[in-house]
Amino acid sequence: MSIALAFDIYGTLIDPHGVVTELQNHVGERATEFSRHWREKQLEYTWRRSLMRRYADFGVCTRQALDYADRLLQTELDQSAKEALMRAYRVLPAYEDVAASLEILKNEGHRLYPFSNGTADMVSAVLENAAIDHFFEDVISVDSLQVFKPSPETYQHVVEIANVTPQHCWLVSSNGFDVSGAVSAGIRAAWLQRLDGVVFDPWEFEPTTIIRSLRELPDKVSSG
Ligand code: LAC
Repeated sequence: MSIALAFDIYGTLIDPHGVVTELQNHVGERATEFSRHWREKQLEYTWRRSLMRRYADFGVCTRQALDYADRLLQTELDQSAKEALMRAYRVLPAYEDVAASLEILKNEGHRLYPFSNGTADMVSAVLENAAIDHFFEDVISVDSLQVFKPSPETYQHVVEIANVTPQHCWLVSSNGFDVSGAVSAGIRAAWLQRLDGVVFDPWEFEPTTIIRSLRELPDKVSSG
């Protein structure tokens, strides 16, 4: 049976901190700090909305997290600045190891899926702008389920769409919470440790494998 690889998008294939360049135009030297608060709040809002059963899509979570960071740092961004930042979120760069690694995996006959909290529209735009959309099958978004990662339903959804057994289904993600969620839901998961010093959550769920670059993934997948 063929293997399905579901790639997390933001933080794994696409660098959400690519917004720093646009942020510098609006908040100057506070751009990196702003970007960190924006990203942390964006994820927190997805978890809280899932728990509260008050789903609003990832675009809404991203926009409300932007408003939060603006309020917290008292940067007083106007509507046009916020719109420019939201547009920048659709043209984020891919990490340097992405294209070459996806090409090898695809040539080996694996099916590659973008799998994201983002809506299909957001994810398609960002993959197209980063010129990596041609490696993939259709986007798998949590949007149709109205709940975010790491709900087990989201990983079961990947298994169903890809039509594989859980043993042939991999999540590839740099987000530890995503990897724990996938392993807990019964699929395989590669944790991509992109940054030095990040640690994996000391819960009862270990990644199936740990990689430091996507270039290591083809060997890990073929050795099971
Ligand atoms: C995603 C978030 C987790 O792409 O970054 O699903």
